[in-house]
Amino acid sequence: MISCQRLAIVAQPGHRLLVLLPVSDCPLPVSSFPNQNLMDTQLLLDTISRVVHVGTVIILAGGSFFMWRVLLPSAAELPDAEHDRLRAAVTGRWKKFVHAGIALILISGFYNFARLVPAHKGDSLYHALLGTKIMLAFGVFFLGSALVGKSKAFEPLRQNRGRWLAILVALLAVIVAISGFVKVRGKYVPPMTPVAELSADAD
Ligand code: HEM
Repeated sequence: MISCQRLAIVAQPGHRLLVLLPVSDCPLPVSSFPNQNLMDTQLLLDTISRVVHVGTVIILAGGSFFMWRVLLPSAAELPDAEHDRLRAAVTGRWKKFVHAGIALILISGFYNFARLVPAHKGDSLYHALLGTKIMLAFGVFFLGSALVGKSKAFEPLRQNRGRWLAILVALLAVIVAISGFVKVRGKYVPPMTPVAELSADAD
């Protein structure tokens, strides 16, 4: 417990209103759970969206890594005919997860984005990182779809499955690193003008 002496006094430029910001756990009735006053449905939707986003990412990223490091090298030891049969069976099943996974990641990702953008107004680093992440995600979706697809145009990618799976997993690692960083770096607090400066302007 600390005393309220550590309150910072600030004011928005152009306004006379003083704002008191608790800089630590002040014994004032300040909630530790900013979400608890929101409607329950909003909280429920936020939770579902997060769980769906991360859960789907775990399945798709884990599956891709398994294929790259375990299934491909193991299947390469099989005779050609068996290898082809296994490849067709695995691709046919995995394709459904890839397509459904992309849809779920997009829906939950854009929902998260719409919910979080207002809290990051003016935070250019957040937007730059998230923009980069979304572009990389579209690269991942393209590669994932091409590797399970049948289009002749992308046959060269399927012929080099190992290399493209490695690139896909590397992109996923960068995306997860960016997402993890933007999540833990905290909320952006826009710069405020100290009261002393405002008073000097008014004089
Ligand atoms: C391959 C694709 C993707 C991967 C691997 C991925 C991964 C992740 C991970 C691991 C998190 C952290 C979740 C948490 O800690 O709660 C996250 C959060 C998030 N993702 Fe994605 N994501 C992908 C695609 C997308 C797309 C397409 C969008 C679209 C707009 C998106 C928007 C977001 C947002 C807004 C957050 C919350 C960021 C924050 O905490 O401020 N993601 N993502």
